[in-house]
Amino acid sequence: MTIVTGVTVRVPAKLNLQLAVGPPRADGYHGLVTVFHAVSLFDEITAEPAGRDGVTVTGEGADRVPADGDNLALRAVAALRAALAAPAVRPAGVHITIAKRIPVAAGLAGGSADAAAALVACNELWDGGLGQPRLLEVAARVGSDVAFALLGGTAVGRGRGERLTPALAPATQHHWVLAFADGHLSTPEVYAALDRLRAASAGGPAGAGSQAIRVPGEPDLDAALMSALRSGDARQVGRTLSNDLQPAALSLFPALRKTLAAGLELGALGALVAGSGPTCVFLAASADRALEMAVSLSGAGVCRSVARVTGPVPGAAVVSPAR
Ligand code: C5P
Repeated sequence: MTIVTGVTVRVPAKLNLQLAVGPPRADGYHGLVTVFHAVSLFDEITAEPAGRDGVTVTGEGADRVPADGDNLALRAVAALRAALAAPAVRPAGVHITIAKRIPVAAGLAGGSADAAAALVACNELWDGGLGQPRLLEVAARVGSDVAFALLGGTAVGRGRGERLTPALAPATQHHWVLAFADGHLSTPEVYAALDRLRAASAGGPAGAGSQAIRVPGEPDLDAALMSALRSGDARQVGRTLSNDLQPAALSLFPALRKTLAAGLELGALGALVAGSGPTCVFLAASADRALEMAVSLSGAGVCRSVARVTGPVPGAAVVSPAR
């Protein structure tokens, strides 16, 4: 019998190729329709038995990640423990080590990714035996984007984003360039800014010049984007990218306009703010075009750094011990 001392899980960042946001709900969340797309920028999480729960964070933006009970990965551990067993037999403590490459508070759901990875790692470490449907339920309770980080690929999210339908996945890999900003945005603040912009735009003259603000009914899935994704036509995907949070992110972080414009000038097929921002995302026609764009963008002084990624990629998966 092999004794498992630690389990390591790799988990991807996500983009939202469409993010259609409805009005605020009674619980403070916004109903949405989104097209999630997992890309090849990964955090790695290791779970090891310990006297009590704890977390260590290393790598990109580690000092901004809470290392106490507010840490989303530790909240995921607690949620899994509660889901697994009767109190008398609940698994003991675990130490989670997070090696971050996904920037923090960047609109790429890095915290949610770490939570999803912690679920997969502890389910394995404790021999929890939960299948994906049950893990997805636990994930949805931990945060709006956690379930998608388990699933990966390309999927439509509804509700808060936690109700997922996988999209039929053609073989096409898309080439993306990510421009990381010199700064951060808080997701609740960006949603609140969107509500203010919409209220102003509905109120008449106060909204003059805010035509880009889509005033919400029930959000709808963009059929043109879905058809572009099915056909693998990158040009059409580029033309149909959309994000209702973008005007709100730009109002809080105006310098992003320059970043988006720079990417489009460099030949991006489409450009948008990632989720609640401030990362900017560009679609390139090929791996070569992505490389050229990344080199030029990093020299243009419009972002902190750049990364080239491809998508879709699978969701959270155990990398060691190998299964
Ligand atoms: O679910 P999660 O903790 O990731 O959400 C962070 C915050 O983002 C929420 O507290 C809420 O303010 C905002 N949010 C929202 N509507 C969503 C998802 C997130 O208003 N569908």
